[in-house]
Amino acid sequence: MALFGKEFGIDLGTDNVLIFEGNDIVLHEPAIVALQISEDKVVAVGQEAREMYGRTPEEIIEVIKPIHHGVIADYEVTEALLRTCIHKVSGGGFRLFRPKVMISVPWGVTSVESRAVYAAVSQAGVSSAALIQGPLAAAIGAGLPIGTPSGNMILTCGAGVTEAAIIAMNGIVSAKSARVGGGDLDQAIVSYVRRKYGLTIGELTAEQIKLRIGAALPLDETLSLEVNGRDQVTGLPRAIKLTNDEVTDALQETLAQIVSVARAVLETTPPELAADAIDRGMIITGGTAQLRGIDRLLTRETGVPAYLADNPMACVAIGCGRALQMYETLRPMLPKVS
Ligand SMILES: Nc1ncnc2c1ncn2[C@@H]1O[C@H](COP(=O)(O)OP(=O)(O)OP(=O)(O)O)[C@@H](O)[C@H]1O
Ligand SMILES: [Mg+2]
Repeated sequence: MALFGKEFGIDLGTDNVLIFEGNDIVLHEPAIVALQISEDKVVAVGQEAREMYGRTPEEIIEVIKPIHHGVIADYEVTEALLRTCIHKVSGGGFRLFRPKVMISVPWGVTSVESRAVYAAVSQAGVSSAALIQGPLAAAIGAGLPIGTPSGNMILTCGAGVTEAAIIAMNGIVSAKSARVGGGDLDQAIVSYVRRKYGLTIGELTAEQIKLRIGAALPLDETLSLEVNGRDQVTGLPRAIKLTNDEVTDALQETLAQIVSVARAVLETTPPELAADAIDRGMIITGGTAQLRGIDRLLTRETGVPAYLADNPMACVAIGCGRALQMYETLRPMLPKVS
């Protein structure tokens, strides 16, 4: 625990912002901001802003998701989001003792993109900020022995990015990423329902379908769900019944893109380290790692057994927080910002 000011690990994701302090996740909010357009003023962030989505007069209040596929799409809104979140967890001494933060950036972002994250968090009222690559943070947060010479494989699949890496001696030996994730699975369900049933459904409905009955592989039991949408021809509401097998069908193409990230990293890893990964398996983190059967799919398609991390959605934030405590060891491995 820092003597003055606090230390926060921050995971700024496409869908969610998480902050870890000490031993706990102290904030978990949707990465969403509601702005009053005329005064350019923030009216709500996080869950409160999410609840306004599609329910406010568009010309008065705009609801914005400032992170697209893991990178900043709207700089000022991201800064406002970070400032509000950091303020929320800082407590009374915020003005006197500003916090130190470690924040993750996806593997493979450009230097312009990582500089934007650094600048946004620096402007959000912190005393110092450092960046860490997402897969390294995820591996630390999942408790992998990253300081050893053996290869540790991690795969993180969130809402907009999938990253896979082999880590040894505190550094990333090889990594791959793709701008694909849970949001694309939702989109695939929207397209499937439109194609097969001529029914338009919203993204939030598609996400609910994925969470309730979605699976990466066929299941032993049949799950089904009644879904309401708008008939494309009549324009009127209509209900259909969907089963898990249909959703599995709908998800295959996007899942293949996710699997190919894991395969690509194995193909570019030195053989000894790849052999370690085969022995120890890969740890999967991020919200999408919780999709039913995705562990079995990854195991089948890569030959490396996949295991779901404990608390998969929190691993990156936990890893950022723990990285602050091992900062001197990690410093040479962290991305530099100039
Ligand atoms: N049980 C579940 N089954 C399948 N998907 C899930 C489940 N729980 C959450 N998700 C999905 O996980 C995604 C959010 O995960 P996460 O918070 O890790 O993403 P993020 O960090 O915001 O995004 P990214 O890291 O890609 O920038 C959403 O697409 C959500 O639908
Ligand atoms: Mg993430």
